[in-house]
Amino acid sequence: MLEVAGLDVKYGDVQVLWDISLTVGTGEVVAVMGPNGSGKSTILKAIIGLVRASAGRIALDGKPLAGVPTHAMAGEGVSLVLERRRLFPQMTVLENVRMGAFHPSARGRERERLEWVESLFPILRERRGQLAGRMSGGEQQMVAIARGLMSGPRLLMMDEPFLGLAPRIVGQIVDIIGRINAEGIAVLFNEQNVHLSFSNAHRGYLLESGRIVLEGAGLAMLEHEMVKRVYLGA
Ligand SMILES: Nc1ncnc2c1ncn2[C@@H]1O[C@H](COP(=O)(O)OP(=O)(O)O)[C@@H](O)[C@H]1O
Ligand SMILES: [Mg+2]
Repeated sequence: MLEVAGLDVKYGDVQVLWDISLTVGTGEVVAVMGPNGSGKSTILKAIIGLVRASAGRIALDGKPLAGVPTHAMAGEGVSLVLERRRLFPQMTVLENVRMGAFHPSARGRERERLEWVESLFPILRERRGQLAGRMSGGEQQMVAIARGLMSGPRLLMMDEPFLGLAPRIVGQIVDIIGRINAEGIAVLFNEQNVHLSFSNAHRGYLLESGRIVLEGAGLAMLEHEMVKRVYLGA
């Protein structure tokens, strides 16, 4: 459904992405794994139009996304859960979640979507009135994902969804990604950890210094010699 081909991105004169090509198929979970500064966030930002590509093509179900402003991406069925959550800490959980339904295409379905996201994350129903800033890191990540789902995306992108979370909470987020995907929503996420990336994705890409150097099925990526040697110290 998502097709990125030959993507270059520059910040000013400094090029940070070179010739990135990746796809996400309908119903797939895809991981982009790479070290800090390798360009993971920039890929997601380019897809959703927060940064401009200097070359390449980005299309969703064959429709080019170039020129679609970020605020209109929800209408195209694309949603991005930003790194480190970016919630409004002084607003309640419910207010934060409902903010994800701001797009005209989501209006009229807000009640039904809220029902759905609160069934995925029952704690958010219990804590509707609590200030988001008072929630734990894992709960805040759930609020952020719930917000991203309120626009009813076909493709949910997540920038380092496990960052800074305790292992038990990581397990919960992994479980939630599986449930979201089971509802037919494609997922593209970024991650620095090899195991978290490739054991939780159907397919994966390895990004180094702004270039994709390896791609394959999740489990094949885990077993790959280069990944083992460089990232697992084998
Ligand atoms: N707004 C920006 N202006 C200039 N350089 C940036 C900006 N954002 C990121 N960079 C640089 O682009 C490169 C890729 O960054 P990023 O996509 O954030 O990597 P990652 O998400 O993998 O850590 C890094 O060298 C980073 O310093
Ligand atoms: Mg990043």
